[in-house]
This record gives sequence, C-alpha cells and structure tokens, in this order.
Amino acid sequence: MAEKDQKEVTYYSLEEIQKHNHSKSTWIILHNKVHDVTRFLEEHPGGEEVLREQAGGDATETFEDIGHSTDARTMSKEFIVGELHPDDRSKIQKPVDTLLTTSESDSSWWTNWIIPGLSALIVAVMYRFYMADD
Ligand code: HEM
Repeated sequence: MAEKDQKEVTYYSLEEIQKHNHSKSTWIILHNKVHDVTRFLEEHPGGEEVLREQAGGDATETFEDIGHSTDARTMSKEFIVGELHPDDRSKIQKPVDTLLTTSESDSSWWTNWIIPGLSALIVAVMYRFYMADD
C-alpha cells in the first residue's frame, strides 16, 4: 500500500510496484523513483518491448547503459508517480560480481602445464628408445 510523508512523496513497496508489470499498467524504477510509463510504451523511441521487459522492476542499470540523452532524462521526470520505499531499496541492489581468481583458476593452471609436460616427456622417452635401437 502507498503511504505519504510530510513532503507529500508517495512511497511504494517493491511488492506493490511488481504488480504493475502488464500492458494496462507498466511501472519501472529508475534511481529509486517509480515511473508509470503505460502511456509512453508506444511512443518510446527505443521500442515498447524494452520497457515491458523491465516492467515492475528496477531498470536503472539498463537505462544508464543505453546512455539516454538529457532530453530523455528530462522527459522521464514526467512519468514519476512516487518513490520506492526506503526499506525496499536494498532489495534491488545487484550483488557485486566476484572475480574468478579462486581454486577454479588454480586447477586450470595445473592442467595447462601437466598435459604439455607429460606429452613432452613421452616424446623424449620415445626418441631416446628409437635412437638406442640404431
Ligand atoms: C521513463 C523512462 C524512459 C524515457 C523517458 C526514455 C526515453 C527515450 C528517448 C527520448 C530515446 C531516444 C534517444 C535519446 O534521446 O536518448 C530513447 C531511446 C532508447 N531507450 Fe529509452 N527511455 C526510457 C526508459 C528506457 C528503459 C528503461 C530502457 C531499457 C530497458 C530504454 C531503452 C532505450 C533504447 C534501447 C533506446 C534506443 C537507443 C538507440 O537507438 O540508440 N529506455 N529512450
């Protein structure tokens, strides 16, 4: 349910926002602000589909990745209907990607060296064996 504070900002819970994920009511979160883009779907220069894909969720990362113009940013303010409730903001943070520097890369180091090393050894032994025959 929506609730208001003294500055008349309407706060929506993530659960409430997630319900607006269909063509009759499409909401997206950009920088913790809730945007009702239902009437903008057909007008969006980047197409309706990309907005639908993000419906009911946080689209900040994709919005920024595309590198929208200043005009697009100003335009986006027209669609603000409220803000994501502060208690739910941590729920949309993406976990930080961990680098693959663990035992997995250590094991590939071993296989990278052992296979060529053994092959070289076998070739050397065979060479000596054939040379000894002569
Ligand atoms: C209220 C929110 C949004 C507004 C007002 C908006 C507005 C615009 C505008 C005006 C353009 C034309 C290019 C520019 O001026 O930058 C554009 C392009 C585009 N937008 Fe959005 N946009 C919004 C949200 C999004 C979101 C959430 C996504 C992705 C999920 C998205 C994806 C794209 C793409 C792919 C293009 C095409 C870029 C290109 O052709 O180079 N937009 N948008």
